[in-house]
Amino acid sequence: MQESNEQRQIPLDFLGDLKRTHNCGQLRAADAGNRALVMGWVHRRRDLGGVIFIHLRDREGVTQVVFHEDVDASVHAKAEVLRSEFVVAVEGKVEPRTPETVNPNIPTGEVEIVAEKVWILNESKVPPFPMDEYGEIAEDVRLEYRYLDLRRPQMQRNIIMRSQVSFATRQYLYSQGFLEIETPFLTKSTPEGARDFLVPSRLNPGTFYALPQSPQIFKQLLMISGYEKYFQIVRCFRDEDLRADRQLEFTQIDLEMSFPQQETVYGVIEGMLAAIFDAAGSPITLPIPRLTYDEAMRQYGSDKPDMRLPAFREVQDLFEGSGLTNGDLPMVAIVIPNAAGASRKERDEFKAVGQERGLRVFDDSKRLERDFPEVMAKVRERTGAGDGDLLVIATWAGEKQGHRPEYTVLLACGHLRLALAAKYADKHKAFEGKVFKPLWVVDFPMFEWDEEDGRWMAAHHPFTSVHDEDLDKLTTDPAHCRAKSYDVVLNGIELGSGSIRIHRQDIQSQVFSALGLSKEEAQAKFGFLLSALEYGAPPHGGIALGLDRLVMLLAGEKTIRDVIPFPKTAKGTDLMADCPTPAADKALRDLGIQLRKPQPK
Ligand code: AMO
Repeated sequence: MQESNEQRQIPLDFLGDLKRTHNCGQLRAADAGNRALVMGWVHRRRDLGGVIFIHLRDREGVTQVVFHEDVDASVHAKAEVLRSEFVVAVEGKVEPRTPETVNPNIPTGEVEIVAEKVWILNESKVPPFPMDEYGEIAEDVRLEYRYLDLRRPQMQRNIIMRSQVSFATRQYLYSQGFLEIETPFLTKSTPEGARDFLVPSRLNPGTFYALPQSPQIFKQLLMISGYEKYFQIVRCFRDEDLRADRQLEFTQIDLEMSFPQQETVYGVIEGMLAAIFDAAGSPITLPIPRLTYDEAMRQYGSDKPDMRLPAFREVQDLFEGSGLTNGDLPMVAIVIPNAAGASRKERDEFKAVGQERGLRVFDDSKRLERDFPEVMAKVRERTGAGDGDLLVIATWAGEKQGHRPEYTVLLACGHLRLALAAKYADKHKAFEGKVFKPLWVVDFPMFEWDEEDGRWMAAHHPFTSVHDEDLDKLTTDPAHCRAKSYDVVLNGIELGSGSIRIHRQDIQSQVFSALGLSKEEAQAKFGFLLSALEYGAPPHGGIALGLDRLVMLLAGEKTIRDVIPFPKTAKGTDLMADCPTPAADKALRDLGIQLRKPQPK
């Protein structure tokens, strides 16, 4: 016993030379009669007077331990003081449970350990929430006590799955000849469309490093340096507004290859995803289907279509002359299976969702059926909509908008499709269970018009190759330039994004200039890349997948916070470590930094 135990109400035991013989998920009926020494946390305790039952938990599972007063009164007395989350070691004999006490819900449920010795290794305050996986716990409490939240079996399953996914990724990529190479965190701005996190340099006062938004430029440099196949499971940092599938720091499975066709990249990612999904116990079928960006927009109104529900169909040609179409803009028929018979109130609701996005929604298909029976028969034929399905038709309400007005309309229709799908999820059941429908979306537009800045922006990033046949449109018709870029999408979420890169300095300079970057600006921002491109840069390309998103989907969670051990809140704070915090005056002085009030946005 320790000296400090004198003041303790509960004396603690030393670990001494105790060694586990089994973990808490290991014992089976065949072990009956053997001796076992297990260690873990008191998960649950039931005191029936002369008999105390403890569910002892470790990473591997739960084992029942029973303390009989008539077997050893002093051991039983020790068990009386045990409470939830105490850390104990127990030694005893493994006994089969009587048939009526077998617990079929846990793998160890056929046996229990009859305790002969118990060591209390540590006590615990009453935890702020129980460790069983059921019950809603407020997220801010979970995040404040994350070390306890991470003890819950559900979180342990998620974090273990994350480790298995990383392992399967490494195994697969090593088997394909990829090298794992690190790239710097203290670096220069990388353009992935978010704000940078800046880190002041004490040795060079007044200057800042940027934390990488991705290793994009470095992985390209590694190709120029001749490493041919690179990968990294790497932390990236983006100062952007947070959502369920976005964090300030997140992890990418990042890779790059020399001399690839787009097909080569698809092949590697399909093999890798198959290995990962196998490891996670949810195999997928290959090949992963493909849609061009234009097809995805025209069939789903999204560049990340959720394939668990049917596509919509353009029907403006069928309605020609009806007076319901809006010029040559798309008119779309959306089908939600098994959701016929929406009430007036429901129809008003989804009409409002469409109207907010600029759509005119024909919510009453019965009326259309009456006024345009032949057209509607063709619509049903084209969409395959049956009597039990909800059929909603929508077109644009106002003037044309944007450089690609058809996409503006289709995007709004895609939004309506998802809103309807979410509303009637209980009817079509498409979102239930672990159904995985991956998809490649390829041939994205090269540029997107940025209304705020009034200029073209790179739709992916500025190092992406333009389609060979669109090269001469770079400056004359940027709206119709297609990029050699591709996304891998899973159940409506963008899982990964990549492209074949520009490997010629002259084309890279042209793209910078199409993006409105002067020679000087391009030189200041990316001079080292431009210079490297002059020394025999091979054709190269790659992709990065969001590891957090992948594990979130595999684990069936709704937010990546549930698969990241220590995530930030939606406000970017860490409630457990209590940060960010103001810097000490001296630290700021050393860095030559004087604070001023943040500018209003
Ligand atoms: P991109 O910016 O599309 O491409 O990022 C690739 C993938 O990273 C994940 N991701 C995020 N996950 C969580 N939180 C975030 N804030 C976040 N931002 C992105 C997504 C996304 O699909 N360098 C390029 C890749 C390349 O071209 O090779 C890049 O970073 O799953």
